[in-house]
Amino acid sequence: MSHHRRLAPHRDFHRALSIEELRVYARRRVPTFALEYVEGGAEDEISLRHNRDIFEQMRLVPNTLVNTSARHQRCKLFGQEIASPLIIAPTGLNGMLWHRGDVALARAATHAGIPFCQSTVSNVRLEEVAAQAGGRLWMQLYVMRDRAIAREILTRAQRAGFEALVFTTDANVFGYREWDRRNYRAPAKLTLRNMLDVACHPRWLMNVLVPRGVPRFENVVDFMPPAARSAKASVAVIPQLFAPDISWDDVQWLREQWRGKLLLKGVLNVADAQRAASLGCDGIVLTNHGGRQFDTCVSPMEVLPSIANAVGNKLTVIVDSGFRRGSDVIKARALGADAVMLGRATLYGLAAGGEAGVTHALNILTSEIDRALGQLGCNSLDEVGPHLLAPTQPARSASVLTLAK
Ligand SMILES: Cc1cc2nc3c(=O)[nH]c(=O)nc-3n(C[C@H](O)[C@H](O)[C@H](O)COP(=O)(O)O)c2cc1C
Repeated sequence: MSHHRRLAPHRDFHRALSIEELRVYARRRVPTFALEYVEGGAEDEISLRHNRDIFEQMRLVPNTLVNTSARHQRCKLFGQEIASPLIIAPTGLNGMLWHRGDVALARAATHAGIPFCQSTVSNVRLEEVAAQAGGRLWMQLYVMRDRAIAREILTRAQRAGFEALVFTTDANVFGYREWDRRNYRAPAKLTLRNMLDVACHPRWLMNVLVPRGVPRFENVVDFMPPAARSAKASVAVIPQLFAPDISWDDVQWLREQWRGKLLLKGVLNVADAQRAASLGCDGIVLTNHGGRQFDTCVSPMEVLPSIANAVGNKLTVIVDSGFRRGSDVIKARALGADAVMLGRATLYGLAAGGEAGVTHALNILTSEIDRALGQLGCNSLDEVGPHLLAPTQPARSASVLTLAK
């Protein structure tokens, strides 16, 4: 029977019924090299696959005959209500998927009543995103070798009214994405096969490349060496600017400088989570960078229970990496997360249809969360807890191991 089944049989992405189907629409619109940049993981992509395996192996146990007609998925994040337990994760180079992609993502997030986190290596100036999207905006920070970059970004984000600063801690060494590299014959120079593939995507060419060429890293371009300011050259240079010497001293320094909420993105063990709390951070993002940085890294879902248990009353605990279904979000809440960051799920929407595509991705996920709540017999996210998880769960047994240490 399966050979009759085909995802995305239409031309219109609005007809995608799942994130996986939206991915097929994205694949059709965007050249291979750009989609590989979004989808790929480090080395053998074991972390990338493992992030999904964890969700696929977890099982939920519903309560039956509960009246759930009044259910909702609103919850609080840093004391303020959000419409769903979701945040759009920081991703660099969104302008490669859609012209001014950062604005499209931010507007869709605001429309959906959830925060948007902008990347240091985004393609639209943070002030413009604030002016054009409004809503709850967070700024992600890569601390570069030249600390003046961090100083300037946090001053500007403070002035533009950003709510939170998210310091990414898992990029002291740049991940080695072998499949991504195979698309280039030299840094920033595509292979001939990829150049031909680009020519076969006229809708993408007209939307992304024709308006202004390869998008620039607008938030950090002034700090680039003069020879590397052009869009193409900077793509090759950026990884070398990342500071290999970031440490807890930077957290202390950021805490002194930044008045808003401060989060660390890249925490994966209890000791680091406790250290973040003791240095005055407001939250942590448990992540393996969507499997893009360190291959064979643990999935954040496996360490979530022990970390939530240790610091959940002191810190807001956010988790990401591999979320593609509403039931995944429910599983994270059941293990103690406050909210979930979405990376590729909303990028597939962006690549398939700009702001409308992101809105479509968020609608898919929020209706899945709503159905899962109803089917579990829950009226709100507060009723979701570990009691809904089947007893033998990979994520739970891993947490038992962590606790036993
Ligand atoms: C294309 C792409 C670019 C990314 N760029 C950044 C970035 O600039 N800063 C950052 O902290 N994380 C970055 N990430 C990681 C995401 O914030 C997030 O941790 C990850 O995508 C979550 O996994 P998921 O894609 O499976 O949802 C990026 C991820 C992707 C897919």
